Amino acid sequence: MSTNLESSSATSTANAGGGVAVDLAAVEKIYRTDKVETVALSNVNLTIPGGEFLSIMGPSGSGKSTLLNVLGLLDTPSGGTVTLDGDLVADLNDRQLAAVRNREIGFIFQSFHLINDLDALDNVQIPLLYRNLPNSVRTQMAEIALERVGLGSRMRHFPTQLSGGQQQRVAIARAIVGTPRLLLADEPTGNLDSKMGEEVMQILEEYNRDAGVTVIMVTHDQRLAERTERIVRLFDGRQVH
Ligand SMILES: Nc1ncnc2c1ncn2[C@@H]1O[C@H](COP(=O)(O)OP(=O)(O)O)[C@@H](O)[C@H]1O
Ligand SMILES: [Mg+2]
Repeated sequence: MSTNLESSSATSTANAGGGVAVDLAAVEKIYRTDKVETVALSNVNLTIPGGEFLSIMGPSGSGKSTLLNVLGLLDTPSGGTVTLDGDLVADLNDRQLAAVRNREIGFIFQSFHLINDLDALDNVQIPLLYRNLPNSVRTQMAEIALERVGLGSRMRHFPTQLSGGQQQRVAIARAIVGTPRLLLADEPTGNLDSKMGEEVMQILEEYNRDAGVTVIMVTHDQRLAERTERIVRLFDGRQVH
């Protein structure tokens, strides 16, 4: 996979090449509407060294997706601080935030979120459209990512022509095509049977091991969680120790 990350980071990345180191201190997230106030995260403290494979578990509504969205810079905490590679996220301007989101972070969702009108190769290229790359380079990077997830022979298939496991592998290829250093997966095996879930898990493990990328996975599957280096449990937005 081509490495064009040297000039990519909007922040000073202390350990460029390895995984992103993450630090959360006293993170709170409160959703407020006219009538109700929901505390989705309360006093979450987490130090994740670059390259760790960590899983997050907890019942439905315990704040797992909120935590992942805060980590992925898709949501802003109501309190506390998020630090990536020593840089306070709150200090980044919009342009820097967008650059970190696009270049350093890959996101995988339970329901794949592929675009049905685009084939696998075009779906995988989407994150690269925000970069100034020639068409041929984009295509080549997408091909390499699809080969990496074992879909070299399905590049021109559309999502509806692929099994759930294959669709999730396309989504993983899209998440890794830009060589992110932090991979966030929200119940990536939740819609898959155990065999397909196992394939997806193996790809995440391989990517973590080979590329040294930090991987944070939300899962309800205790067996998969036990294969990661650490399990963080949430209940009602709080860490359970
Ligand atoms: N955009 C939102 N507006 C209001 N409440 C929300 C929003 N997103 C999540 N919540 C609430 O925050 C809590 C945590 O949600 P979530 O992080 O999705 O939990 P999980 O992923 O563990 O199922 C839930 O009570 C949920 O209803
Ligand atoms: Mg969720």
